[in-house]
Formats: sequence, structure tokens, C-alpha cells
Amino acid sequence: MKDVILLALESSCDETACAIVKNGKEILSSKVASQIDVHTRYGGVVPEVASRIHIENISIIIKEAIEEAGISMDDVDGIAVTVGPGLIGSLHIGVLAAKTLAWAYHKPLIPVQHLTGHIYANAFVGDLQFPLLALVVSGGHTELVLMKEDYDFQVIGTTQDDAIGEAYDKVGRVLNLPYPGGPKVDKLAKEGTPRYQLPKVHTDNPLNFSFSGLKSAVLQSIKRLERNGEELSVPDMCASFQEAALGHLWSRVESVLDEYDVKQVVLAGGVAANSRLREICTEKMSQRKNVSYIIPPLSCCTDNAAMIGASGYIAYKKGIFCDLDVEADPSLEM
Ligand code: KG4
Ligand code: ZN
Repeated sequence: MKDVILLALESSCDETACAIVKNGKEILSSKVASQIDVHTRYGGVVPEVASRIHIENISIIIKEAIEEAGISMDDVDGIAVTVGPGLIGSLHIGVLAAKTLAWAYHKPLIPVQHLTGHIYANAFVGDLQFPLLALVVSGGHTELVLMKEDYDFQVIGTTQDDAIGEAYDKVGRVLNLPYPGGPKVDKLAKEGTPRYQLPKVHTDNPLNFSFSGLKSAVLQSIKRLERNGEELSVPDMCASFQEAALGHLWSRVESVLDEYDVKQVVLAGGVAANSRLREICTEKMSQRKNVSYIIPPLSCCTDNAAMIGASGYIAYKKGIFCDLDVEADPSLEM
């Protein structure tokens, strides 16, 4: 079969990214321009600033990705682009660039939903096996996604309030850690012990998640320590929050594995970069002999365009294309 080479673009939040991906499995190049340094100054992503920096970066990053892959536009079979969900202004820049390339070079345009990209990042490690359970954990989403086959996404659990990455970032903020808090909380937790008591999480549905109570409990705990004149250990608080949050997260995975026929579990999204989550997944999954698992490479956990190329490849094979009048959709579902 002829090789399929896709040029993929991602700009849904604060990363401008372009990748060249062969057959959805081989990364010929993957360039990411992060805006974190800028947004750290404001303590979070400022949408207007993000859009402006995407405009500045996108042509450069496309040129670099093509050069690094050692190909020309003649070799490209299609343009895959994140059309949603995300920040409307940010998405718009990537979609506009993709439409321009598709029009100028007469290439098919492939619309990709961002979270499907996070899931298909696992295809860089090994073949996906269905029925598959994807634990999607990012700054904006926490979902249990059951897939009976390629591109069949059934959301069987979701968060009732905050996404887990959002909770990490909010806890980072109350502990005065720079944005984004997730990676810092992860790092500090390794130096601490989970000695602060945090409440057990309850949800209406046994497959749903809730993280806002944990975040408030951390805040109350800090205030209580202050009132009592006791010193707060930031590493111990990070460890306490992390154990509580990930314990809650993994309990839902166990429930799905007990209830549904699942052949493989995959982690997906920025929080899949968390060292403790990767440890828990490895430990728990090695006890389940009939279910395989994949943890995506660190470089493919946080936002990147290679994952959009991996998902876009499946869409390409299925004949999912869009016209040049496609628009960014900030709340696009899977
Ligand atoms: O997938 P992603 O790059 O963007 C979204 O689609 O949201 O995820 C970003 C989120 C942020 O909330 C960030 O704090 C979190 O992933 N994150 C982590 C770690 N690395 C990134 N959270 C916990 N531990 C980490 N090591
Ligand atoms: Zn993401």
C-alpha cells in the first residue's frame, strides 16, 4: 500500500505545532512552539495573547517541520488540523493556515477533534487493540472513552466539575507555584509524604469524576494550618493532593475494567505526563493479565501536532474530509 504522509497542525490552546507524520505511526518531524513563558507572567492562558502569538509562530513552525522531515509539499497527501475543542481565536489560526495550504497545494483537508489526537498519540507506541478504554486527562477534559473500533468514541464517564489538569493548576496557584502547576506539583510530590488528610470524593454516577472539592479541601487545609500557626509543607501538600486525585481517577478505571469487556487501556492528554499516574498505571495494569496497556511517550502527552497526524491518518483512511468553508468549533465533541 502507498505511504500516506500528512502535514498536521495544532493550535487549540497555547502551543503552536506542526508535524509531518507517515502512515499515522512514524513521526518524520514534530515542532512545537510553546507560549508557556508568556502566559506564566499572567498566571494562566490569556486567549487574546495566545491568538496573537499563534499568528507570529505558525508560518515559521510549518516551514521548520517540512525542512526537518526532508520532504516537499509534493510529498504531502493531506492536511490534518485541530478544529476543536479549544480557544476559538487560537483554533481559528490553525484552521486558517490549514485551509490556505489545502487550497494553495490542492490537498485534501482533514478535520481532527483534539481529544482524539491525544488518544491516537498511543499509536506511536504500538497497535491499538479494541475494545479499548482511553483515560483522557488534560487541562480541559477528564473522560473515560470506550472504543469498540477505530474512530468509535463512546464517553462513559466525565467530570462533574473541574478537569483534573485544571485542578492541578489551581492547587499549584494556591501553593504559589508558577503556571502551569501540574508539572510542578508532580515534581514536588516526589519529595513529600501524603500526610495531610483530604476528603474522599463522591460522585452521583460511579463512572464520573469530581475534582473541585479536593481543590477546596487543599485551600481549607492551608488556612487551618495558618490559623493554628503550623508550618505548611508544600511537598507534603502536593503529595497529599496527588494521591487523593489519582486514587479517585484510577478507581474509575478499575470500575470500567470490572464492568466492561476491555482489551486495552491507554492514557491520553497532558496529565498522562504525570510520573505518579504512569507508575500507578504500570503497577495496576501489570496485575491484569488479560488487558494490555499503552502509556504515550512524554513528548506526545502535552499538546503537539504529531498526535493530530496520527488521528488524521485514521480519518483519511475512513474518508473523513472537509471543505474549505470548515470553521473552528470551540466545543466540538468526539
Ligand atoms: O493536553 P494538554 O497539553 O492541554 C489540554 O488539552 O488541556 O494538558 C495540559 C494540562 C495542564 O493542566 C497541565 O498542568 C497538565 O496537563 N500537566 C500535568 C503534568 N504535565 C502537564 N499535570 C500533572 N502532572 C504533570 N506532570
Ligand atoms: Zn490537549
